[in-house]
Amino acid sequence: MRLGAALTGTLHTMASPAAEASRRRTFAIISHPDAGKTTLTEKFLLYGGALTNEAGAVKARSGRRSATSDWMALEQQRGISITSTVLQFPYRDCVVNLLDTPGHRDFSEDTYRVLAAADAAVMVLDAAKGIEPQTLKLFDVCRQRDLPLLTFINKWDRPGLDAFELIDQIEKQIGLVVTPVTWPVGIAGDFRGVIDRRDGLFTRFTRVARGATEAPEEIVSPDQAAIDEGPAWNTALDEISLLDEVGADLDIELFQGAQSTPAFFGSALTNFGVRKLLDAVIDLVPSPSARPATDGGIRQLDDPFSGFVFKVQANMDPSHRDRIAFLRVCSGKFERGMVITHGTTGKPFATKYAHQVFGSERETIDEAFPGDVIGLVNATEVRVGDTLWLDTAVEFPAIPSFAPEYFSVARVRDTGRFKQFRRGIAQLDEEGVVQVLRDAELGDQAPVLAAVGPMQFDVAVYRLENEFGAPVELSPTNYKVARRTNAESALAMRGMRGVRILHRADGTVMALFESQYWLERLEADNPDLILERLVAEGSAG
Ligand code: G4P
Repeated sequence: MRLGAALTGTLHTMASPAAEASRRRTFAIISHPDAGKTTLTEKFLLYGGALTNEAGAVKARSGRRSATSDWMALEQQRGISITSTVLQFPYRDCVVNLLDTPGHRDFSEDTYRVLAAADAAVMVLDAAKGIEPQTLKLFDVCRQRDLPLLTFINKWDRPGLDAFELIDQIEKQIGLVVTPVTWPVGIAGDFRGVIDRRDGLFTRFTRVARGATEAPEEIVSPDQAAIDEGPAWNTALDEISLLDEVGADLDIELFQGAQSTPAFFGSALTNFGVRKLLDAVIDLVPSPSARPATDGGIRQLDDPFSGFVFKVQANMDPSHRDRIAFLRVCSGKFERGMVITHGTTGKPFATKYAHQVFGSERETIDEAFPGDVIGLVNATEVRVGDTLWLDTAVEFPAIPSFAPEYFSVARVRDTGRFKQFRRGIAQLDEEGVVQVLRDAELGDQAPVLAAVGPMQFDVAVYRLENEFGAPVELSPTNYKVARRTNAESALAMRGMRGVRILHRADGTVMALFESQYWLERLEADNPDLILERLVAEGSAG
């Protein structure tokens, strides 16, 4: 699904990278499973004109998956998508890059890493459920990066919570000021339309079957709306005056500074409010900007090409062990065929096979600009967090590793395959497929694999067996929480019950605990211990 070319019209754009960047909006959708992320994605494509057929294609894609996504037998067996990629489509005079965060069953560290490549996120909430655990976890990553957040309160077409209660939940649990941009006329379950608080206009929506085509919208004058909508209209006006009183008004600076979240009410299924949200993505989400480098310098948009890798997908095609590195362009113009430098090794990297990837579908990409994502094939030595550049060297800050919540001990089944096993886990660790934690004494005999989602273990086991020829046995452990510590604190904790000290290959010392409760007790009894929280952890409640 390469849609960008349709927009640019020609394959070679003359505009400067900064000018092209100003047309880019690169964002991700975060949500708890079933809140409506897939439906909203599909409706964005519909409104972006990117669905030639009726809406339903993205959903259909999941049904088709077993037939079309052939990159990994595991994906077929489970009927899930392990890849996370980007959808590019034109909207108004912009290019929208919608990064796909994998869903619940395939939740993994990649889900978090994708947010490192986004300039903003849309948080989708189910109006009947409000903030749910996975939304909170993902939000934690957004907060850590000061990522601007738009809120879409979805499923207003069916009974749900009170609008003010939802706002209250967001403010209390997320800690952002909510500035409703649209306000619903009609309670959840009796959705008539929205009032846009910026101009006071009422947009009335009409349902079409399953939202297969754009929902007809009608701008209705306040006088007419008062007649047509009766009490629902008056209630909405009263509520809006309450909002006006507390000054919950859209403030672009506060939004871009990740201190407030503009909120939109809607129903992805019936398309109500989808256009308003997509317009807000264009109007409010910051376009890609110059990026700070690790040496304190800034890579300007018009500087030579550079980008960083936020995800590596190995073995997408079993017939030729390939490896795709997904790179977010940060500066300059990418032109397929140019030879860039891989920062970590200093080696040249040929980009003859650069792709845009959606699921298992790939299309060659000829050029890309800041904010775009490209898939580099045969990226054998490229790891998550690596920078690639042209002409002048640059290095972007590392992507943090995230708090694992699942821990299993891995052992090779056949000790004769130990060498392969060892090589395999080192490789998977480097690629960031799982985190590998080693006991100082046991080393590679029985490393603990740590992950943010159990799916990562499936991928690791599959690859160890099929790619490295080292079938493994995984045994679950009782550990639930990990903290980063240092050598001194590790020494102090050595003899303590319910805690285990392990090491990462990069020298980080980790302390694992059997429960949050136990960790808190230990902290209370030993206030001098260094026990640092990792990103996106503990907010799941
Ligand atoms: P996810 O990607 O966040 O997991 O959610 P997804 O879009 O798959 O939506 C989950 C369910 O919620 C789907 O129903 C979908 O149709 C429904 N849904 C999404 N948006 C709305 C909305 O605005 N209003 C209502 N009433 N429902 C919505 P399903 O029964 O699981 O799937 P399906 O049979 O409808 O495809």
